[in-house]
Amino acid sequence: MTSTEMTSAEQSTAGAKSSAAEATIDRLTFPDGFRWGTATASYQIEGAPDEDGRTPSIWDTFSHTPGKVADGDTGDVAVDHYHRFGDDIAMMAELGLQAYRFSTAWPRIVPDGTGAPNRAGLDFYSRVADRLLEAGMTPVVTLYHWDLPQALQDKGGWTNRDTAQYFAEYAAITAAALADRVSLWTTLNEPWCSAFLGYGAGVHAPGHTSGAEALSAAHHLLLGHGLANLALRSVLPSTAQVSITLNPAVVRPATASPADAAAAHKVDGLQNRLWLGALFRGSYPDDVRAFTAEVSDWSHVHDGDLEIIATPIDTLGVNYYNPMVVARYDGVGVRARVDGHGDGAGETWPGCEDVQFLEMSGPKTAMGWPIDAGGLEELLIGLHRDYGMPMTVTENGAAFADTLDPDGRVRDVQRIAYLRGHLAAAHAAISAGVDLRGYFLWSFMDNFEWSYGYAKRFGITYVDFETQQRTFKDSAAFYSDTVRHNGLAR
Ligand code: FCB
Repeated sequence: MTSTEMTSAEQSTAGAKSSAAEATIDRLTFPDGFRWGTATASYQIEGAPDEDGRTPSIWDTFSHTPGKVADGDTGDVAVDHYHRFGDDIAMMAELGLQAYRFSTAWPRIVPDGTGAPNRAGLDFYSRVADRLLEAGMTPVVTLYHWDLPQALQDKGGWTNRDTAQYFAEYAAITAAALADRVSLWTTLNEPWCSAFLGYGAGVHAPGHTSGAEALSAAHHLLLGHGLANLALRSVLPSTAQVSITLNPAVVRPATASPADAAAAHKVDGLQNRLWLGALFRGSYPDDVRAFTAEVSDWSHVHDGDLEIIATPIDTLGVNYYNPMVVARYDGVGVRARVDGHGDGAGETWPGCEDVQFLEMSGPKTAMGWPIDAGGLEELLIGLHRDYGMPMTVTENGAAFADTLDPDGRVRDVQRIAYLRGHLAAAHAAISAGVDLRGYFLWSFMDNFEWSYGYAKRFGITYVDFETQQRTFKDSAAFYSDTVRHNGLAR
């Protein structure tokens, strides 16, 4: 008997015992139609980097560059989802999950980045969509979760304006192939990371360390989103929904001093208002342009770009992990730089030399990220107040040092507590009037966590990276129960 079956057996015993008590359980119930799912991303799970016509992405190049990823890990095998997607989807269905957010790999679908599509690449995602629908689940596609074709990086990547147009072409090709089965589309995942961690900090692919490049990449990513939005509308039925996923953050000033408030406002500018302003107000914030003026002349912004970027979307995807605490840095002592995804030697925060990030007290995940469920509620309420969009939590979750016990169970009580707290926060935001449509847990299974390699486990499914054996953690049973009841037992 596998541990997966043991967990299910234990679940059903527990289920039988508790069914009588069920009616009396006090629950935080979510709105009817609230969509429950899990999320993954192509490079983090697929493997098969050169099968069926796929070309290298910037993450293949980066992970194969010594010193860039912990332990020299790469996504060459990852969790072999390219070959195991059928079994993985069956496991999701076993938990009763309703939706699956996955990303398509641009270098599988348009191997040269632009030009002829690769039928075999499209066929893979077509099979994934079919399998999900057969299992009664809704496919939710993200078109870009950081794996840019290396062929395009060779032409400048996201600092090249043409990449935005190529992205729209790839989006249209992918949507045309899947339009009859996929109705929820996300253009980009966390473009802040692509721009500022990839081109500024140097801790993500392509590993550049230039603030000017980061700002130009940010604009071209947004332009790519806008052009893709228009391209998607031209090939999708009018009932389809188009979205972008950001990683907006609650930025808290360390003290009530005006200096700390100004520091927090700068970080808020680069992390939040740059993206939200362009998308929802059709302009970049004046203060951000001003405090980065020595880094960039912003000549990458052309007339008409912002109208394209601000083409309306249907819903906003929000990824939430933790808030930040920011203070003014006056040049004395060691300047703390905690950006949540590793500290690069480069320029993560252009124009913010007078800013520092303070370590938060309290419990942390295995990533060192503070656990602060209240931050999710605060974030959603703030976004609702300022931008008034329907939203979906497209990622939320935590890494802990999970172990597979000799009896085959993974007792991830910390993850359950984390999820419980964050789901209660999401529920509180809804009660406060936020139009939240769904929650996607990061992640369905342990996977390649970017520059941390396989050392950080975010899954509710444990993966033995040697054998590729999957085992539901205790958190999977917890999440399954939550999904099946559309609510959280108090
Ligand atoms: C997010 C990424 C996702 C995963 C989580 C932990 O920033 O979108 O791929 O790495 O962090």
